[in-house]
Amino acid sequence: MSFKQITKTIQERKTTYAYDFSDRKIEKETIEAIVINALWAPTHKLTQPWRFVVLEGKHRETLGEFMANYYRKLYSEDEFSNERYRETKTYASKASMIGVIFKPSKRAQLPEWEEIAAISSAVQNMWLSCTSLNLGSYWDTSIATIKYGEKEISLEENEQFLGVFFIGHVKENLPKVNRKRKPLSKKLSWHFKK
Ligand SMILES: Cc1cc2nc3c(=O)[nH]c(=O)nc-3n(C[C@H](O)[C@H](O)[C@H](O)COP(=O)(O)O)c2cc1C
Repeated sequence: MSFKQITKTIQERKTTYAYDFSDRKIEKETIEAIVINALWAPTHKLTQPWRFVVLEGKHRETLGEFMANYYRKLYSEDEFSNERYRETKTYASKASMIGVIFKPSKRAQLPEWEEIAAISSAVQNMWLSCTSLNLGSYWDTSIATIKYGEKEISLEENEQFLGVFFIGHVKENLPKVNRKRKPLSKKLSWHFKK
């Protein structure tokens, strides 16, 4: 892949919410290929501190219902309207969903931030893979999503549910989103030592 191609994929990677997914299903082989790319992320001492679980079948209904009920309890009527409640209930109905489970290595005894950095690279690999496949995606780490995963998935004592990676085919003719980044001048300096 040329630098130009990889730059394009990196800069075109974006968050696409499940509201914008179409009915078209994603093949099992595609999900597997995306997760294989996650597995190729770098990890210090090759700890590979993760496992992934595809949330299938009724999860498409029950995750939305869980989110809607969770936010209705948490927010006042004004903050979380009935319309928002209804929309949230079906939020996940068109999505393919991959639960992201953090499993730090007991053997390697690394600082936690290194293991979190590694799993984040794995998620980025999935995100970039989706971009290159023309699929919408994003990582949802909202409190309701995490609570849902903790309730539904049996976690071992050292494991942590780090949210859901949502994937879907994107509806046609969606309005273009204006995405921005701070300029290089604000984020890069050169430190010259004589
Ligand atoms: C660790 C992490 C967690 C995120 N969690 C959420 C989330 O819970 N809800 C959400 O709407 N977006 C979430 N996002 C997506 C970010 O909001 C998004 O990446 C950011 O606004 C930049 O937009 P872009 O992805 O289109 O470049 C998350 C992103 C990262 C890296």
